[in-house]
Amino acid sequence: MSERQLLVAANWKMHKTVADAEGFLGDFLPRIGDDVAAEVVICPPFLALRTAAEHCLRSRVRVAAQNMHFEAEGAFTGEVSARMLREAGVDGVLLGHSERRGHFGETDEALRLKVPAALNARLQPILCVGETEEQRDGGETEAVLSRQLEADLADVADAELAEMVVAYEPIWAIGTGRTASPDQAEDAIGHLRRLVRKRDAEAAERIRIIYGGSVSPENASELLGREEIDGALVGGASLDQASFAEIVMAAS
Ligand code: PGA
Repeated sequence: MSERQLLVAANWKMHKTVADAEGFLGDFLPRIGDDVAAEVVICPPFLALRTAAEHCLRSRVRVAAQNMHFEAEGAFTGEVSARMLREAGVDGVLLGHSERRGHFGETDEALRLKVPAALNARLQPILCVGETEEQRDGGETEAVLSRQLEADLADVADAELAEMVVAYEPIWAIGTGRTASPDQAEDAIGHLRRLVRKRDAEAAERIRIIYGGSVSPENASELLGREEIDGALVGGASLDQASFAEIVMAAS
């Protein structure tokens, strides 16, 4: 077994008001208790971040945002900076989710600036990478992952790589109910870990590389039981507290 602590993160996307987030956490936190083995992270929409952070203060659950700008401040209408997130009690941030890349024009050039900006502000980046179905069918999965990881982490110092989390999220598995098989997920994660090893052998052993895409209470144990898979990024199945708690327990 690796020494890496499993990480299970809830990506709520554009779901849950402040009141919804309070209701969820009021039920979820007692369900999982204080001695869960996995690290648990909740990623609510911006407006619910502060409330979620306050609710989680006396628990081991941490709160992360779903996006941020790379500048500290400035004329960037509609954007939020790392410093603003820190002040709200947030300690991580999802970066490069395929929905941001696909619907909102998130580029590898921007991610190359966002990842170090997050690390400098002591926000743990959870960088998402993954291929489309067409790219997988065309045998391009490893090339796509290499391109994304190398570009997005180009300006991160080798010594800081271990502080990051990378989420392998094949786009064809997100919200489709079609999970990657444990073998497919392990192969892709193994490839990502080899890319990190080329830069720093110790960081490759320590960095957590998790899987996301239709993770559910039914398939979580099998995925999380695999040596290479250091956790899960959960969308749809994280919106219900009972189902997300089951996934967290599967990691324990
Ligand atoms: P899903 O989403 O679990 O609903 O497939 C995962 C994600 O988009 O992070």
